[in-house]
Amino acid sequence: MRPLILVTGGTGYIGSHTVVELQNNGFEVAIIDNLSNSSIEVLDGIEKITKRRPLFYQFDLCEENKVNNFFKNHSVIAVIHFAAFKAVGESVAEPLKYYKNNLLSLLNLLKAMKSVNSQNMVFSSSCTVYGQPDELPVTEKAAIKKALSPYGNTKQISEEIIQDHIFSFNLFKAISLRYFNPIGAHTSAFIGELPIGIPSNLVPFITQTAIGERGCLQVFGNDYNTPDGTCIRDYINVVDLAKAHVIAVKRLIENKNKKSFEVFNLGTGKGSSVLEIIFTFEAATKQKLNYKIVDRRPGDIERVFADTRFANEELGWKAEISLQDTLLSAWNWEKYCRGKS
Ligand code: WQD
Repeated sequence: MRPLILVTGGTGYIGSHTVVELQNNGFEVAIIDNLSNSSIEVLDGIEKITKRRPLFYQFDLCEENKVNNFFKNHSVIAVIHFAAFKAVGESVAEPLKYYKNNLLSLLNLLKAMKSVNSQNMVFSSSCTVYGQPDELPVTEKAAIKKALSPYGNTKQISEEIIQDHIFSFNLFKAISLRYFNPIGAHTSAFIGELPIGIPSNLVPFITQTAIGERGCLQVFGNDYNTPDGTCIRDYINVVDLAKAHVIAVKRLIENKNKKSFEVFNLGTGKGSSVLEIIFTFEAATKQKLNYKIVDRRPGDIERVFADTRFANEELGWKAEISLQDTLLSAWNWEKYCRGKS
């Protein structure tokens, strides 16, 4: 009997890639997802890769009774909590929607877990909690600055909620994984990033421009204080990121965590500018990209990339897939999505 892991938001981008890696590591997986930002076909993609279809329950984690019923009927050894709204711009326009969804779903989850003495959670967080760090590369000890968006604030508040919960329920232990910029797709191209509508993130906009879905990529500003004037980010392959979740959840299950609440930065430790991403994409895919420089996007920070030493040493995890191979995987996924592969 395989131990059961609950993955909330498991039909989403990072969630689906994590489900694949969990199944590859001998876990049974149950997904709870309301499909508000993903599609049911993702289950087919997962099954094509691993030949195992995860259990799937379509409901909203804001529905407390449904969350409680799930835990009454399933004995999960750990929860990996991805389910949340994550569009920075949308969170500025609709803050109440973000606070309700992202916080109430966590509260319901924690309460239901406590009711059945379920003790292990890996939480999906973000480097956005650091804002524009004072020092780079940014370590887990960096100051948590005032969030630049309601989305970022929900991640900060969620981490605080989990820590307060641990204080009251001392059997509970959690690991918060702060992602930098996840990009790319599984090498099979059966799963990947499925932005609904016009992508706000750089790489899906690049691949949609390259395949002709978008006319021209807008580069938001080239007057920053960086070598080529464009913003710098730490772009990490989504499969590398997914593998870190398996290591983290095993750490909790095997009681190898050193504190009841641990935080790890998940990046490559290398910063890349927007133009570097464009040129690397063109070289990796042999696709010429149509782009133009426009004004800065409000809220963008100039540069951020991770100090990965703690994750490397403590988790024994390191991002391994190159930026070229990652951008090529994003391109292969785009072609597969459009029936062109
Ligand atoms: C990257 C760079 C843009 C689009 C966000 C969230 C973060 C995380 C990842 C959830 C920036 C530039 C982008 C475009 C561009 N999400 N860009 N033209 O903003 O670093 O991070 O997504 O956890 O929390 O904040 O990612 O991909 O939107 O932007 O020039 O069409 O690409 O200005 O410099 P970002 P991004």
